[in-house]
Order: sequence, then structure tokens, then C-alpha cells
Amino acid sequence: MTPDRARAARELLAFYLETGVESLVGEAPVDRLADRGEDAAAAVPQPPALADRARSAAPASGFAARNGETLARPGAPPPQTPLRDPAAVIPSPAPMPPDSAVMAAREAARSARSLDELRAILERFEGCALKFMAKQLVFADGNPEARVMFVGEAPGREEDLAGLPFVGRSGQLLDRMLAAIGLDRTRAYIANIIPWRPPGNRDPSVQETQICLPFIQRQIELVDPDVLVCLGKPSTAALLGVNDGIKRTRGRWFSYHTGTREIRAMPTYHPAFLLRSPLEKRQAWRDLLAIKKALAE
Ligand code: URA
Repeated sequence: MTPDRARAARELLAFYLETGVESLVGEAPVDRLADRGEDAAAAVPQPPALADRARSAAPASGFAARNGETLARPGAPPPQTPLRDPAAVIPSPAPMPPDSAVMAAREAARSARSLDELRAILERFEGCALKFMAKQLVFADGNPEARVMFVGEAPGREEDLAGLPFVGRSGQLLDRMLAAIGLDRTRAYIANIIPWRPPGNRDPSVQETQICLPFIQRQIELVDPDVLVCLGKPSTAALLGVNDGIKRTRGRWFSYHTGTREIRAMPTYHPAFLLRSPLEKRQAWRDLLAIKKALAE
């Protein structure tokens, strides 16, 4: 590579990072800007009939219209969706159908007799496509002997890099929240519903949540805390089956069945939400005091 091209590549990578494009979606690069000749559409492999119709019928079947758009002529056949360039198709790492993945997750999670085994099982589990896009598993942090367990939604970029939950800005606020009631990571256990970072920090899908749920449920069962704290709505919905907004559920006690016993569970605001809405910290503070009181009983 010439020095100019190397510099251009470095600048492009820096630009991607700045704009949040940070996940690799394919092994081989695809130059989507490459000149594909005069008729780019012709470069896209199409069945002959479709290609012929596109070439001959396209100009006649639409009005070259306002703002350069092409409007369909009444009665004209609907526009054909161009076939995707196979080279541009992102290979899906989804290794098994979702139903089978959920079943496999349940079986695998059930078989874990300790947290170490559960972590090892998750390291090997291939039923959740997020695993293939994340840098590493983000299993847990804190003390597995703790009486209180906090569960968030999914790791972000910092957590993906560190392999630990809640180490970014939300994590720093979570640490301050813990400190406010005399806790720290030696006296609390912290995990997420989803143990792999969704690319670009998108919300995990319902399917991904369903696949990961048996693992966090087993993790809670193995930690066996006295108090479970659900950070934010996704964690509350997944673990407590309550779909109301977090403003309605926060600060209320629910019962969570660990698999061996009932424990107390409280939803509260996710620290990321509190960073965006600092006025709500007052409510979060109340929740923390209630958690502190429960731990003193
Ligand atoms: N948000 C979460 O829900 N979990 C983390 O680990 C970090 C941010």
C-alpha cells in the first residue's frame, strides 16, 4: 500500500470510529463506491427476464417527474426491487433457528452447577448471533457472595472492550449510586440480561433477549441474592415480566422466584437514563434507600 493510501485508510477508520461505525460485519471488504461501469444495475446479477424488463421497460413505465423522482405511471407494473449484489450481502452468523436457540440456551443454562461453569458454557454457546459481533463475553462483576444483585440491559462499547459490565459512564454513576448506600463492587454483584454487546449499541431484539434469558436467570439462581435490582425497563420486563414503563414500576417491590426461593426485586432507573435526566436522581435516591433498608433487615 502506498503511503497516501495508508493515510487515507487511517483517516477513514478514524472517521468510522468518530461516527460510531465500529463493528466488523464481514471478513472481506466490499468497495461499495467502486465504479461498476456505465450501467451499475447491469453489474448486479439478475435473472435474464428481470434484467431485460428493467432495461427496456424502465424508461417507459414511469414519469420522469418532480425533483428528478420517477413516478409510476398509473397501471404500470410495480417497480421491481433490485436484487442485492451478492458481494454486498452481509454473511449472517446466526447459527441456529431462534426456537432451537432458546431451547439450547435453557438446557445449557440448567446444566451449569456453578458460576464458573455458567461462564464457560456461555463462552461456548453459539445460539446468539450477538456473540459473533461482540469482542468478548461480558459476564459479571462484583462479589458473587453479595446479598444484592444489579442487572442491566446489555454491555456497551466500554464494557465490550473491558469484558466487565458497567465500566463506562453509566457504570461510574452506578458506582456512585452504590457508594451512596454504603456499597461497592465488593458488596454487590452486577450483570446484564444480554452478555454480549449489540452492534452499535442498538437495543437487543426480543429474540436475542429470549435466547439470553435462561442464562441470566440461572446466574441469579446461582448467586442467590436476597435483593435483586432491575436497572431500567428492559431488565424489569425480562426478569419480572412487567411491561409497564419504568416510571410506574420503579420503587415498587416485586417478588422474583429464583428457581429455589422467592426474593425481593425492585426496578429502578438505569444509570444511563439518569445521566440524561438528572432530575430523576431524586426518585432513584428513594429507591436506593429502600434497597438499603431491605438489606439491613
Ligand atoms: N448499560 C447496561 O445496561 N449494561 C452495561 O454493562 C453498561 C451499560
